[in-house]
Amino acid sequence: MGFVVAVVGATGAVGREMLATLEQRKFPVDKLVCLASPRSAGQKVRFQGKDVVVEATTAAAFAGVHIALFSAGAAAAREMGPVAAAAGAVVIDNSSAWRTDPGCPLVVPEVNAAAIKVRPKGIIANPNCSTIQMLVALQPLHKAAKLRHIIVSTYQATSGKGHAAVEDLLEQTRALAAGKEVKPAIFPGQIAQNLLSDWKPDTTPAGEGYSEEEMKMVFETRKILDDESIFVSPTCVRVPVVNGHSESVHAKFERPITVAEAIALLEKAPGVTVDARPYAPGHHPQPVHVSGKDDVFVGRIRKDFGDPNALNLWIVGDNLRKGAALNAVQIAEIVASESRQA
Ligand code: A2P
Repeated sequence: MGFVVAVVGATGAVGREMLATLEQRKFPVDKLVCLASPRSAGQKVRFQGKDVVVEATTAAAFAGVHIALFSAGAAAAREMGPVAAAAGAVVIDNSSAWRTDPGCPLVVPEVNAAAIKVRPKGIIANPNCSTIQMLVALQPLHKAAKLRHIIVSTYQATSGKGHAAVEDLLEQTRALAAGKEVKPAIFPGQIAQNLLSDWKPDTTPAGEGYSEEEMKMVFETRKILDDESIFVSPTCVRVPVVNGHSESVHAKFERPITVAEAIALLEKAPGVTVDARPYAPGHHPQPVHVSGKDDVFVGRIRKDFGDPNALNLWIVGDNLRKGAALNAVQIAEIVASESRQA
C-alpha cells in the first residue's frame, strides 16, 4: 500500500531535503502534495524525476493526505498542523510549535520510537537539530551508565536557519573577498569569518540569560529521554559553515565509564559512526565530510581529567538530514508500518 504524502514548506531548505530523503529511501508515495506559502504557488519542485507543482497551504490541500511532513516554521505549524490532523493526516512537524505539548510525542527513532504510538492530537514533533544528533550519540551511553549532566557547546551551520541564511553567508563571504562592506540580510550581524549567537532570547522563567535554541536542548533532552532529572547546560553558537552541525559535549554519568566502553557501545549503536582513530590533526568528524550522510559521527572520545564518571565527545551531523528531514522521514516510516500492520 502506498501513501498520499504532503510536504509543507516544500520550497525550503528542509522541505527540499525531505523530498530528496523520501525519494532516496523509497518511501511508498502514491501521490505527493507539495505545499508552501502562497508566494510559491505555481512553482515546481522535482520528485522522482518529475515536476510537482507547489500549491498554497490551505485546508482543502490536505484532503486525502495520510502523512503530512511540515517544515514551514512554527506559525504555519500552529495554524495548519491541527487542520491537517483534523483532515485525517498524521502530522510530523519539524518546527518548535508542538515540541513541548504533552499531547505530542517528541521523537528520535533511535531513542524513543515507542512514543510515536501515543499521539492524541495526531501530531508528532521532530526535535531540534542539535538535540537530535546529541541524543543519537548519547543514548547508547545513557542506557549503559545513566546520564546526569550534559555540558554542550554547539557549532551550528547556517543552513539550520534556512535557505536565505546560507545565501547571506555566501554573499557576506563574497563581499569580504572583494573588500566591500558586509551587509547582513538575515543574520543580526557579520557571520562570514565570524561567530554569532543569533537566536531569540528565551522568555520562560527557567531560561534567564539563555537563548531559545539553548533552552530547546534542555527541555527536549528531558522529554525525549523521559527524565526530568537530567541537567543540560548548553551554549549555542552559529559558525560560518554552510551545512553540518558540530557539538563539543561533556557528559557526566551515574557511574564510571571508560573511553573503551563508550567506543564499544557506540560502535554497536544504530545511526552512529565512530571515529576512534588516535588524535592527530584533522582526525575528527568534520561538517564537510558529514554533510550529505545519514549517520551521526562521533569522535574525539576522551576521559575527563577530574571525573571518572564523565567523558568528552565531538559529535557532528548533517542538520538538514538527520537533524531534520531524515528524522522526520524515519518517523513517517514507523507510522507507515503501523498502518500496514493494522
Ligand atoms: P515559501 O518558499 O513560499 O516562502 P526555509 O526554512 O528554507 O526558509 O523555508 C521555509 C519554508 O516554509 C518555505 O517552503 C516557505 O515557503 C514555507 N512557508 C513559510 N511560511 C509559510 C506559511 N505560512 N504557510 C506555508 N508554508 C510556509
